[in-house]
Amino acid sequence: MLKPEVTTKLNEQLNLECYSTNLYLQMSAWCHNKGFEGISQFFQKQSREETNHIYRIFDYLNDTGTMPLLGAIQAPPIHFSSLTELINFAYEHEKNITNQINRLVHVTMTLQDYSTFYFLQWYVAEQHKEEKIFKSILDKFEMIAIDYNGLFLIDQMMKNQ
Ligand code: FEO
Repeated sequence: MLKPEVTTKLNEQLNLECYSTNLYLQMSAWCHNKGFEGISQFFQKQSREETNHIYRIFDYLNDTGTMPLLGAIQAPPIHFSSLTELINFAYEHEKNITNQINRLVHVTMTLQDYSTFYFLQWYVAEQHKEEKIFKSILDKFEMIAIDYNGLFLIDQMMKNQ
């Protein structure tokens, strides 16, 4: 049985993962609308990965005899002035999620809930991976001049990310 504070935090994380799914699906739509099909596909893939993040917590809560609680999910932003702004938003979002995961891990350690602590290690590794992905995309934006040729190259490259 999970401690109430751990349950509350896991449910908060569950809902954050729902927001992430919607955020990346909306970003996929924005990219498709602007003609960036490769990046649109990349964000669809990211959105599906976020759905996996939802189910991991959902199943863990169920498995520990705790009913998962889904609340209202904030609508994601729909306007971006440029592709760089959109990618930067995603990168900042992932850094935020990493901070949330770290806080959650800290709570489990403080309360000596080592089972949940162990469960969360997958998220710690996943956040490291996701931050790295978005940072490397931003780095490529800086390397390739953001003109039409550069954007085309980036769009093609991200089809295979
Ligand atoms: Fe589920 Fe990208 O954090």
